[in-house]
Formats: sequence, structure tokens, C-alpha cells
Amino acid sequence: MEFSINDNEFKLFKDFIYEKSGIFFSEINRSILENRLFEVMLKYQYKSVIDYFNTLQKDPEEVRKFLDLITTNLTKFFRNMSQFEALEKFVIPELAKRNETSRTIRIWSAGCSSGEEPYSIAAVVAYVLTLEEGWDIKIVASDISLKSLLIAKEGYYKKDRIDDIPPHLFSVAFEDLGDTIKVKDEIKKLITFDYHNLKNEFGYKDFDIIFCRNVIIYFDQEAQKEVINKFYKLLKPYGYLFLGHSESLFGMNTKFKFSKIGNAIAYLKDET
Ligand SMILES: C[S@@+](CC[C@H](N)C(=O)[O-])C[C@H]1O[C@@H](n2cnc3c(N)ncnc32)[C@H](O)[C@@H]1O
Repeated sequence: MEFSINDNEFKLFKDFIYEKSGIFFSEINRSILENRLFEVMLKYQYKSVIDYFNTLQKDPEEVRKFLDLITTNLTKFFRNMSQFEALEKFVIPELAKRNETSRTIRIWSAGCSSGEEPYSIAAVVAYVLTLEEGWDIKIVASDISLKSLLIAKEGYYKKDRIDDIPPHLFSVAFEDLGDTIKVKDEIKKLITFDYHNLKNEFGYKDFDIIFCRNVIIYFDQEAQKEVINKFYKLLKPYGYLFLGHSESLFGMNTKFKFSKIGNAIAYLKDET
């Protein structure tokens, strides 16, 4: 069955999604939005997309479900390996010296999807600091996809994901259960999973590192800038921001300083 929406309906939904999440649907990805709306129409038997749109205006729970449906949650363990190498060899050792007195490490994985990113981060931190050394490590992992957060909290993954995990980190963070791998409980304990919308929620602060990778690529420039400025405020002095491989702050007027760490790129909050 052919399903499409008219220009007026497209504008209504596109503006609504942008206002609620920062995600920007251009004409090029209009068919993605149409496909997702088609799924909703079939599943919930709305009379028309306008009928559905009216429900969204009234029901925050439906909005959450809708946002979950339109997000792209593709991820993997140790995605962009050079950043994890930088974390292991330079960033965590440097933080261990800087935070020697407080013995705290605070990291945010913003847009964590199904958990592969925060578990990769936790594996590196636990490997470098060793959990026995009494460090207070807290990793916040947040997303607007409830489906993904549920998978993340479970901490079980298909065995084929194993290839992306360096062996010295596998033994720190995972157990091999045959068909699946399980995140060790002591690694899970380092992470708090949370529903958090980058577009309009606040409440976090004082991070040493923020990972926000392959998330703002779906935002328009204005929403990107808002989020990046928010990250700047929420980082401690000399904190690092890691973005995705195809994302950069180039051309964006921000206070972050470009920093090359090993083979990775990060952005530093250096106020000197
Ligand atoms: C492609 S995944 C990236 C996952 C992981 N960071 C990585 O690089 O592998 C993008 C994630 O960002 C989330 N996301 C999109 N808009 C968001 C928003 N406004 N607030 C929080 N998370 C959002 C999506 O739900 C999705 O899980």
C-alpha cells in the first residue's frame, strides 16, 4: 500500500519533532518519516495522520513513543576505536592525576542508545583505574529511546558483537555465556541509565568527560549549537567532549578548544 503525507502534514510533523527533540527532518529524509508514520497508522488504527497529530498534542506518553520510533539507534562497542585508545592511554591517566584528591570520575554518555557506548567507556575506566583502588566512578548514560534504554539496562548482547571488543577489555567487563555476552555486575554498577532529552532537559553537571557521538548529526545547526554550549557549561574545567567521527565543531562559534589526543580528536574546556 502506498502511503504518503502532504506538504502541510510533513511541515506539521517535522516542526513538532524538531521542537521536541532537535532532530531535523529535511525533504531528503521525508520518506523515512512517512514510513515511521505508516507503522503508527497501521498499529494504532488512527483515522488520519492529523488525528494522530492531535493525540500527540495532548499525550506526553504518546510523544515519548513517537520519538522512540523516529530515532536512529545504530551503535556498536568501541565505535571509533581511536577515541577509546585516547581514553585509555591519555585521558583517564591524566584525570587520575588531576582528581587524585577527590578520587572521583564523572562521565556522561549522551545519546547512549542500547548501551554499547557507556559499557565500552566503563570497561576502559575500570581497566585503567582498577575497581579495587577505591575510585568513585559514575557514568550517566542517557537517551530518549526507551526501547534502547531497556536493552542497555539488561546488559546482554549477541555474541557477534564480541569482535569489536579488545581482548584485554573483554575480560574486565564481560562474561561469555556461549550465545550471548553479559556485562559484569561490577561494570553495570558504574552506570546510571536515564531518560534525558538533550533538547529541553537540564539537571546534570560537573562532568570530566562527555561523549555525545552520532547524535547531533541529526540536529540542525541551531539545535547543535545549543547542545554544545550546554555541554560546555556542564563540563568541569579541562573537561573533554568527544563527538562522532563525522561530527565537528568546525565553523561553530564555541569556547571549546580543538585537541588532538593520540589519533583521536576531542574538544577541551580550557578557560585559560
Ligand atoms: C545513532 S545513535 C548513537 C549511539 C552512540 N552514541 C554511538 O555513537 O554509537 C543516536 C542516539 O541518539 C539518541 N537521541 C536522538 N535525539 C536525542 C535527544 N534529543 N536527546 C537524547 N538522545 C537523543 C537516539 O535515540 C539514539 O539512540
